[in-house]
Amino acid sequence: MPRKLCFVISPLVAVTSLLLHSCAESEPDTAAAAASAVPSVEALTDSLTDSLSGTDIYRQICATCHGENGEGKEELFSPYIAGLPVWYGEEQLRKFRSGQRGFHPEDLPGQQMRAISLSLTDEQISEIAAVVAAMPMILTEAPPAGTDLQRGRYQFANTCMECHRYNGMGEVAFHSAPLISLNRSYLRRQLINYRSGRRGADPGDIYGQKMVEISSRLSDEEIERFVDYIGALAHGDDPRSERER
Ligand code: HEC
Ligand code: HEC
Repeated sequence: MPRKLCFVISPLVAVTSLLLHSCAESEPDTAAAAASAVPSVEALTDSLTDSLSGTDIYRQICATCHGENGEGKEELFSPYIAGLPVWYGEEQLRKFRSGQRGFHPEDLPGQQMRAISLSLTDEQISEIAAVVAAMPMILTEAPPAGTDLQRGRYQFANTCMECHRYNGMGEVAFHSAPLISLNRSYLRRQLINYRSGRRGADPGDIYGQKMVEISSRLSDEEIERFVDYIGALAHGDDPRSERER
């Protein structure tokens, strides 16, 4: 069977329906820009061969959407990925490839990433994860000035800290992602995706299921509060009580 993509998403259709379905943040004038800017997955993976190194793959393929330095592109819904640890990058790329992530018909950004991952070998996944991990992290944007952080801090300490740690850096033993190097719109979308079962709902995805369970109890308002608090955490806030420090 050719190693070509098993399915290719029409980027224009993808972006158009994405804007219709789930893009609360996008302004109408970015819609046209996104539709014309989104690269074709087929064209991108056309040049991919088994012998291409992780560094070359990053430059030729990944950078188109995630940027030279892993800074992501808001208009393409592609997140910051710079500095994600190797274990996490590998795990997520494998989840995309196996269909544990990016499987849901309404998860168009996830489907696009899945289409890319289908062309990658195990060895290439490990190499690219190392390339990404070596990039300096880009921190989550700080919350708007004047945001009251007290409740977010308290809720983070009670609901998230045991797995994502006091500093939001995640924990390999729990397979929990670092949070403080992700952009706000992506953080928000992932919490909504878990809550709606667009991510993490596959029966084999035991770690994703933890997030489905946790986010199922969150209101939109609470999600917003966590996004704000993760931004504060990225810029030095500490959720621990005095005696735990
Ligand atoms: C066509 C655009 C596109 C290309 C090319 C692309 N990505 Fe992505 N990537 C995305 C989008 C969109 C998402 C967000 C998916 C979601 O919302 O779940 C994403 C998500 C990811 C994630 C998950 C981040 C996290 O915190 O869980 C990783 C890791 C990733 N991409 C790595 C890569 C690598 C490595 C390459 C090159 C092989 C690549 N991407 C190429 C668009 C792209
Ligand atoms: C029981 C452990 C656990 C708790 C508690 C927990 N998480 Fe997670 N979280 C995880 C795991 C494991 C993952 C990776 C799941 C996967 O692979 O999809 C994750 C992933 C995430 C992601 C996606 C990151 C990315 O790069 O795509 C976000 C955002 C997140 N968690 C936020 C939170 C917030 C906010 C809380 C508190 C309300 C929380 N988590 C509580 C274990 C946990």
